[in-house]
Amino acid sequence: MCGIIGYLGTRTAAPLLLEGLAKLEYRGYDSAGVAILERHDEAPTTHRVRAAGKIAHLVTALEASPTNGTHGIGHTRWATHGGPTQDNAHPHFSEGVSVVHNGIIENHAALRARLLEDGFEFKSETDTEVIAHLIAQALKSHSRLHEAVQASVAQMQGAWALCVISERHPEEIVVARHASPLLIGLHDAETSGHATPEVFVASDVSAILNHTRSVLDLNDGDVATLTIKGAKITDVDLRQVTRRTRRITWNAVAAEKQGYKHFMLKEIHEQPKAIRDTILGHVDGDNIFSKRNFPLPSPHGRVILLACGTSWHAALCGKILIEQLARVPAEVDLASEFRYRQPVIREGDIAIAVSQSGETADTLAAIREAGRLGAKTLSICNVVDSSIARMTGDVIYTHAGPEISVASTKAFTTQLVALSLFSVWLAGRTSSDNGEDEGARDERERALLTTIRNLPSTIESVLEHRERIQRIARRYAQYRDMLYLGRGLGYPVALEGALKLKEISYMHAEGYASGEMKHGPIALIDETMPVVVIATEGPGYEKVISNLEEVRSRGGRVIAVATMGDTQIEQLAEDVIFVPPAHPMLQPIIASVPLQLLAYYIADQRGTDVDQPRNLAKSVTVE
Ligand code: F6R
Repeated sequence: MCGIIGYLGTRTAAPLLLEGLAKLEYRGYDSAGVAILERHDEAPTTHRVRAAGKIAHLVTALEASPTNGTHGIGHTRWATHGGPTQDNAHPHFSEGVSVVHNGIIENHAALRARLLEDGFEFKSETDTEVIAHLIAQALKSHSRLHEAVQASVAQMQGAWALCVISERHPEEIVVARHASPLLIGLHDAETSGHATPEVFVASDVSAILNHTRSVLDLNDGDVATLTIKGAKITDVDLRQVTRRTRRITWNAVAAEKQGYKHFMLKEIHEQPKAIRDTILGHVDGDNIFSKRNFPLPSPHGRVILLACGTSWHAALCGKILIEQLARVPAEVDLASEFRYRQPVIREGDIAIAVSQSGETADTLAAIREAGRLGAKTLSICNVVDSSIARMTGDVIYTHAGPEISVASTKAFTTQLVALSLFSVWLAGRTSSDNGEDEGARDERERALLTTIRNLPSTIESVLEHRERIQRIARRYAQYRDMLYLGRGLGYPVALEGALKLKEISYMHAEGYASGEMKHGPIALIDETMPVVVIATEGPGYEKVISNLEEVRSRGGRVIAVATMGDTQIEQLAEDVIFVPPAHPMLQPIIASVPLQLLAYYIADQRGTDVDQPRNLAKSVTVE
């Protein structure tokens, strides 16, 4: 989950690399570095500058040690092997070769032992340094950098996106990809305003969007040589191949903060638009997914949802929606657990990966395993052409636009919209097998579609309560712990509310199924433990109210999320956040929004780094 950028052209590389790294900082931000080739009397030398901490530290280091080279690579790191120190920061260097890497080299210990025997000296604790030495070693028998990289990756196991420059090959950057995202940005004078040819490489398109909208996606196993004339690519079988060029239509401004204090706050406010775009992408009149032909589970088949973190919470809602609406058995697995528990896949099962980034290593591995075991695969992704989207048989895109804040918000609610649409679509194809009355099904579908279409304006009205939620947040910002309770669809909402709070405010927060309280967590309740209760109208409401009473009678302070017009709740809770009434199956989409705001304002009040919370990265591309 580190970020990679590379540039080769006629412009000074350092500012372009720094600009790209700033855009990539959400992928990892514990150290950063650049390696830029400089020509003195025509003999290129490497100008390598690295700094622990955020990109700002690298900027300062480069100001103290400037360079006007026009050919370089850069990296922002999220530590896996070796602490976040300057020595462990990329690029790593060996005999004129500089390397930046995203991923993990699983056999790095064995390679390191062999390279030590061969006389190479290690300066860092990283797995990446072995790559620099492997390439330097391979260059002793291969004159071309491309071949040396091919020979090196053939010895590696694990995942990599690599970007390599070499003093002996000053006209090229060589890149390689295996199970980690990497794309090439081709010269685009219209976007950059520069007529002279140049080429970029990046782990994420947002890093180069100001300079090119013309990109080439690499496949796993590809090695590519980039020169100012373009890219020469070989595949896993060493055959020369061409890859599709695509045009990016995203607006670069969409990736800026647009006046909001944090990306997270901006993205929370973008939800009405993101949801509208997701609906528009998949609903045409009364038809849902009209031109799509997703795989259907066989009469005895199941739907298996695979995801991590916030996307897993969306998947938990998906299970309930699929079972209740389509009467198809559904299971949810944490993607990180799935492939290690020898899962049973039967003929006719379909597996759905849910992922904002489409690059999460655990989810990618889990869906690959489900496919290998015979499930038909589908994904719900936000990032177009991401690894998971490309790996699965079919994909439903959420049209949330780029999500920059590490804490996911609009990706979550659009995933819920996509899962709701999918459940309604599936119900339309399975109801006759279940003996459900078609008229009743159609009526329910119409009611759900009406609520779905109204979601953007419903969420606008929730966002209007931001100041009230901010006032409530101020009252709770100094607590140490917080409990979140919900039942049915309210349970994943509670889990998600607690995850948002803990990841950005560093407060300890737990989500619980409210019926589970009496089986243990109730022992925690006292006046120091505020409890957020998802108490919106719907099945189970009365039971949630009983659980809320249990909390109150033990001195707990309650913040309730309740449906407008509920008069009894104000007698029972210290603070109430009202949301508009809606079909109970879609209430999680609405009830999640005030919890995002509550977490945001508490974190902001506590002065944390909301968009880049400590220890986290946006796209978790390591296992
Ligand atoms: C939390 C958060 C993470 C991600 C998780 C999966 O706010 O963003 O928990 O949901 O890392 O990421 P994706 O959805 O990209 O697979």
